[in-house]
Amino acid sequence: MAKIIAGLGTSHVPAIGVAMDEGKTQEPYWKSLFEGYGPVRKWLAEVKPDVVILCYNDHCAAMPPDTIPTFAIGVGDEFKPADEGWGPRPVPVVKGDPDLAWHLVESLVLDGFDLTIMHQLQVDHGLTVPMSITCGQPKEWPFKVVPIEVNVVLYPQPTGRRCYALGQAIRKAVASYDKDTKVVIFGTGGMSHQIHGERSGLINKEWDTAFLNDLTANPQRLVDLTHVDYIRDAGAEGIELIVWLIMRGALNDQVKEVCRHYHVPASNTAAGLIVLENR
Ligand code: DHB
Ligand code: FE
Repeated sequence: MAKIIAGLGTSHVPAIGVAMDEGKTQEPYWKSLFEGYGPVRKWLAEVKPDVVILCYNDHCAAMPPDTIPTFAIGVGDEFKPADEGWGPRPVPVVKGDPDLAWHLVESLVLDGFDLTIMHQLQVDHGLTVPMSITCGQPKEWPFKVVPIEVNVVLYPQPTGRRCYALGQAIRKAVASYDKDTKVVIFGTGGMSHQIHGERSGLINKEWDTAFLNDLTANPQRLVDLTHVDYIRDAGAEGIELIVWLIMRGALNDQVKEVCRHYHVPASNTAAGLIVLENR
C-alpha cells in the first residue's frame, strides 16, 4: 500500500535557485542560508521517497492570467522547467507519476475537489526551487513528482481551510492506492513577504515563528486564518502559506518536527523550512 510518511514546508524564493545555478552559495550573503539546508538534504536522502506530491503555486509562468485554475494536478510523464523570462532554469526535467496522479484525480474529484487536469505543465520556481533546496544539484531528481498547483496569485484565492481539507482528501486518496509507494508531501511558498507597493520588503519574524510552531502543534489555529489575516500580518505574498496547509492536512493529527530552518534575509523574504514526520 502507499503511505505518506512525512511533510515538508519550504519557501521557494527564486533568488535561492539563481544562487545555486550561478554557483554563488558560498558567497557571504548566501553561505549560512545554504548551511541550514544540510539537515533536510540528509534527512530526505535517508528517507528516499518514491514520490513527492509537491503542492505549490505557479506565478503566471505556466498558467496565463486569463486561465487560472483554483487547483490543478499534473498527470504527465514529465514536467519541464518553465521560462520565467530569463530562460528555463538549468535543472533536470521533473519526472511525473501518471498512475498515482490519475488515482488522486479519481479519488479527489469523487470527494468534491474538482482539480483541473494538466496533461502538459511547465513548472516554475514554486516547484523547482524546493527541488533544489532539498536535493542539491543532481543529474536526475531522485524521486518522481506529482505536482498540485494552487492559485494564490489572483483573487479570489481558496481559503486555508479549503487547502487543509484538500490535504485530508489527499491523505485518504493515497491510503487507497494499492502500489507499495513511499510518499512525502511538500507545501511551498512564503514565508512572510511582500514584493511590491508601500510595504515591499515586509518580514514578520514573530508571526513566521508562530506559524511554524502551530503547524506542528496547533494547525487548527492556522486553518482559521483569513486572507486578511495573512495580508495584514504576513504581507500580500504571505498568502502563499495556505499551500503549506495542504501538506499539513495530509498528515496525521500528531506529528514530530524533525528539522526546521529560518533565515533572514533571502531576497525580499524570510526563508523558512520545516519537516514533519507522521507519528
Ligand atoms: C520572492 C519570493 C517568492 O515566493 C516569489 O514567488 C517571488 C519572489 C522574493 O522574495 O524575492
Ligand atoms: Fe512565490
